[in-house]
Amino acid sequence: MIVLGIETSCDETGVALYEPAGSGGESGQLLAHVVHSQVAMHEAYGGVVPEIASRDHVRRLVPLTRKVFDQAGRQLRELEAIGYTEGPGLAGALLVGASFAHGLAFSLGIPAIGIHHLEGHLLSPLLSDPAPEFPFVALLVSGGHTQLMRVDAPGTYRLLGETQDDAAGEAFDKTAKLLGLGYPGGPALSRLAEEGSPGRLRLPRPMIDSGNLDFSFSGLKTAVSTAMRKSPQEASDVARAFVDAVVDVLVAKCTAALQATGLRRLVVAGGVGANRQLRDALDERASQGRFSVFYPPLELCTDNGAMIAFAAAQRLRATKARGGFSVKPRWDLAEA
Ligand code: KG4
Ligand code: ZN
Repeated sequence: MIVLGIETSCDETGVALYEPAGSGGESGQLLAHVVHSQVAMHEAYGGVVPEIASRDHVRRLVPLTRKVFDQAGRQLRELEAIGYTEGPGLAGALLVGASFAHGLAFSLGIPAIGIHHLEGHLLSPLLSDPAPEFPFVALLVSGGHTQLMRVDAPGTYRLLGETQDDAAGEAFDKTAKLLGLGYPGGPALSRLAEEGSPGRLRLPRPMIDSGNLDFSFSGLKTAVSTAMRKSPQEASDVARAFVDAVVDVLVAKCTAALQATGLRRLVVAGGVGANRQLRDALDERASQGRFSVFYPPLELCTDNGAMIAFAAAQRLRATKARGGFSVKPRWDLAEA
C-alpha cells in the first residue's frame, strides 16, 4: 500500500509516492518524487504571482502524477491514501492541489488527507538516514516561517519561539533583492557571501540576547540598505555580513532551545535549511559534543511532495491505531 503526496501551496508543484513501513518492521521508503519549480515564470515579476501559480499547478499535476507512478513502477490501484497540502499557502494554488487530491481519492474510494505545510517540513528530516528519534527540537526556517518547536511525536508539537516579523527566508529574499540578485534570492545570496570577507562589515544580531526563543529579522534588511547608503560596499561583503548575522542568531537560538528543553537532538527543516553556512555552523556547534543535528536530504529542504506523502502516511497510521476515528477532548472553538 502506498501514499501519494501533493504539494501546491506556492510556486512548486511537488508530487511523490511513499511506501509506509510494513508490519514486518522494515522502514518506509520514498519510491519516487518530482518537483516542478515555477521560479523562472515568476522571476520577471520579482515575486510569486498567485494566478500564474495556480494555472501552472493545473497544467503540471496530471503529468507529474503519471511520472511518479512510472518512476516507481506502481499502479494507481495500489494507493491507500492521498495527502495534499491543505494550508497555509496561496488560496488558489492550494485549491488546485486539494481538488485534484479529492477528485482522485473519490474516484478510487480512498481517503484524501489534508496536511499542514509546516508539518510536512517538520517531519521531512525523518526521511533521512539516519533519522532522528523523538523527542527533538525542530528549527523551521522557510520563506514564510521561522519557528522553534518541540516535537514529541508526529502530531505532538509545542511552539517554543517564532519570528516577530519577517521569516529568515523572507529576509534572505529581501536582502538579495536589495543587492540586485533576483528572486528568490536565498541561494544566490548565500553563494555571494562565500566570496565576501568575514568581519569587514558587521550587522546587528537582532534579539540574540532577548532571553526568549523569538526572532526578528526585518531590521536586517534596513541595516543592509543603511550600510549601502552610508558608504559604497562590496556586495559580497554585505552578503557575508548578512549571512553571518542570520546564522549567528539561528545557532544561538537553537542552542538556547536545546538547553531550555534539555533535549539533545536538533532537526532543521524548510528552505533555509539548505543553506550551507547554517549547516556548517550548526555542525560545528554540534561537534563540540552537546547535541546531534539532522537535516532532510538537500532536495527535500524546499517545498516538495515527499514531505506531504510522508506526513500523510504518519496521519494514516495514527488514525488506524485509533480504530479509524478520533475525538477532541480539548478543542478551541476558533479552530472548529
Ligand atoms: O520551504 P520553502 O521552499 O518555501 C516556503 O515554505 O517558504 O523555502 C523557500 C525559502 C526562500 O525564502 C529561499 O530564498 C530560501 O528558502 N532558501 C535559501 C536557500 N535555499 C532556499 N535561503 C538561504 N540559503 C539557501 N541555500
Ligand atoms: Zn515550504
